[in-house]
Amino acid sequence: MKNSFSFIACLCIAVLVVSAGCRHENTACEDAQMRVYIDRLMAQMTLEEKLGQLNLPVTGNIVTGAARESNVAEDIRRGRVGGLFNLKGVKPIREVQRIAVEESRLGIPLLFGMDVIHGYETVFPIPLALACSWDMDAIEQSARIAAREATADGICWTFSPMVDVSHDGRWGRISEGSGEDPYLGSRVAEAMVHGYQGTSLADSATMMACVKHFALYGLVEAGREYNNVYPDDFHAFNEYMRPYKAAIDAGAGSVMAAFNTIHGIPATGNRWLLNDLLREQWGFRGFVVSDYTALEELQENGVCASLEQSAIQCLDAGLDMDMVSNGLVSLADAVRGGRCSMQQVDAACRRMLEAKYQLGLFDDPYRYCDTTLRNSVILSDTHRAVARRIAGESMVLLKNDNRLLPLSKRGTIALIGPLADTRPNMSGTWAVAAVPEHYKTVREGLQDALQGTGARLLYAKGANLMYDAQAEAIATMFGREMRDPRSAEAMRAEAMNIARQADVIIAAMGEASEMSGECSSRVNIEMPDAQRDLLVELAKLGKPIVLVHFAGRPTVLNWETDHLPAILESWFCGSESADAIADVLFGDVNPSGKLVVQLPRHVGQYPFSYRQYRTSRPNTGGGFGKFSTCYADVCSHPLYPFGYGLSYTQFEYTNFFLTDSIMPLDGKVEAHVTVTNTGERTGAEIVQLYIGDRVAKGVRPYKELRGFERLTLQPGESREVVFTLDADLMGYYEPYNLTWTLEPGEIEVMVGANSRDTQMLLLNVKQ
Ligand code: BGC
Repeated sequence: MKNSFSFIACLCIAVLVVSAGCRHENTACEDAQMRVYIDRLMAQMTLEEKLGQLNLPVTGNIVTGAARESNVAEDIRRGRVGGLFNLKGVKPIREVQRIAVEESRLGIPLLFGMDVIHGYETVFPIPLALACSWDMDAIEQSARIAAREATADGICWTFSPMVDVSHDGRWGRISEGSGEDPYLGSRVAEAMVHGYQGTSLADSATMMACVKHFALYGLVEAGREYNNVYPDDFHAFNEYMRPYKAAIDAGAGSVMAAFNTIHGIPATGNRWLLNDLLREQWGFRGFVVSDYTALEELQENGVCASLEQSAIQCLDAGLDMDMVSNGLVSLADAVRGGRCSMQQVDAACRRMLEAKYQLGLFDDPYRYCDTTLRNSVILSDTHRAVARRIAGESMVLLKNDNRLLPLSKRGTIALIGPLADTRPNMSGTWAVAAVPEHYKTVREGLQDALQGTGARLLYAKGANLMYDAQAEAIATMFGREMRDPRSAEAMRAEAMNIARQADVIIAAMGEASEMSGECSSRVNIEMPDAQRDLLVELAKLGKPIVLVHFAGRPTVLNWETDHLPAILESWFCGSESADAIADVLFGDVNPSGKLVVQLPRHVGQYPFSYRQYRTSRPNTGGGFGKFSTCYADVCSHPLYPFGYGLSYTQFEYTNFFLTDSIMPLDGKVEAHVTVTNTGERTGAEIVQLYIGDRVAKGVRPYKELRGFERLTLQPGESREVVFTLDADLMGYYEPYNLTWTLEPGEIEVMVGANSRDTQMLLLNVKQ
């Protein structure tokens, strides 16, 4: 169809090119070409067809929200649909695209979106785990592979990256983000966008990213899903906004508005957020989509009395595409009646068409629908090998007394726990394209690793996830059911029996995958009761126990830390988890992941972050101190700090120095530190740089991450790491006017292996 316009478009461009003098400005010329093309197309569109482009109705074979009736095919023929989401499979997608292209009046192709959050059929670690690798190349590569697989199956738009910073482990969706730090979150956001979009969306193996949930969703009060958020602007900008901006600066093509309100107005209908900040201040040029039914939910928020009013408010705010509510698509009467602006409809329609143009859909609507590609691309050996490597990098070794790990491949090993032999739970939450029958369970992974070694692997489930069957049903929805009908006593007896025969016990325990993710907020984040009771009994045997812990969030591991010699935080590491767990347990891979959320001692500490802002009446030790900021009944420090993680080798930090102790405001100083692998195995270390601004107009955290480097060192090898410090790196959004600033004064510059164990030097910033 594009061809029918191309001659005229070329003529116009020739004129534009000459008159605008943009002969050497490729992007400007491409933009002009796109503008001419879309102008011509829009000139032929009726009001209803324009509104149709703004419509993203419910469809597909994947459930991520409340089900709705819809006659999608008929709506597509009438030009009333702009895109579809969560329809899986290149054949059905191709057929639906055919209806749009061949049976609608103007043949405008559809966008096909999906929640490709951490991989497609090759599933990578949940985003919280992936970030624990601190490996930006690996993260980018995971997104690149996700795009390669998804685009081979008809998808050209992903609802990722999710960059909501969260300081609250009660919130189930903490699993979907990169943890609690805005600096690290920004680096991950950039890597994900680059991974999905590559260098050009015109490449049919890349897809458009959608940064979400704009904005501040990670702040839901008390960690309760869909709750309100109450940030002040100073903290919003310093703590939460930076990763969204980083994703946009990296070129993310679309943005998803959050469910929550900001300044008392739902994000989906918030003009300050979507227009003033996002478009005018940050210069975003892509389109904004609502979250699932968020537009109509303005009525539940009590800010609009009808669907029409909600749609008018959202369009006016800057929303371009309406997921599921059918609000924007129904605005024709409002436009004709003068209640809604035609210019705004045109602007939104143009942005939707621009996205389709950039994705090359007007050149070839079937460019993501090559039905011969899927088999060679999806779940390929190469993709799985990369996913296995990245899974190994994402796990965090929390404890390893007396070097219990790595285990040797001999003797008798008892594998016990409800997570030990469950296929559907391996990929973790929000893996909507996963095909669990292709993935191994931990039991199978260990069995394969021990093949031919003579070591004996015994297995018993030992316990259900929890005693309460109803609570377990909630925790294992979406096909993750794992309830065992046997009594708790019978299951425990079986486990104790094999444990008695074993030299070492591996306990695969923790959360099931749907205990985190959307609408999985919890106030009890300790080891579920049935599993804890089993662990207590196992510990009484006095045998070495390794806990392979599954979780989609930070959890409270006090008892486990006090009673078990080794704990591997394995999160949910995707389709290759089982092999990757075996790699780490048996030492084929040396663990290197470090926490991107600190682990609390009690759920009552939330919201909780290592980025503790200076308070009056500080308390340094974490214990009780009358009239200091503390708890009377629990240490206020974390159990495991941000940035923490062990290795099978050891690293030493020496020779830390600054190239100058004074830095002019517009100058630069380098921080140098030498890191040496003093152990006997090759290992990767994540060297972290923190700063603490001692005096500034706005209150600053004691410590905040401003740099990191991941390096692999051979035994005995040393490497010098250099961080360049300047105003850009060390600044913050100052109070009231929220401009990025560095003020003169003393700054603590700290380096170390985690946020707690650092060395410090003072840098004096002078006017
Ligand atoms: C979630 C989004 C997701 C959308 C579509 C919503 O419930 O909040 O993150 O992209 O569903 O599945």
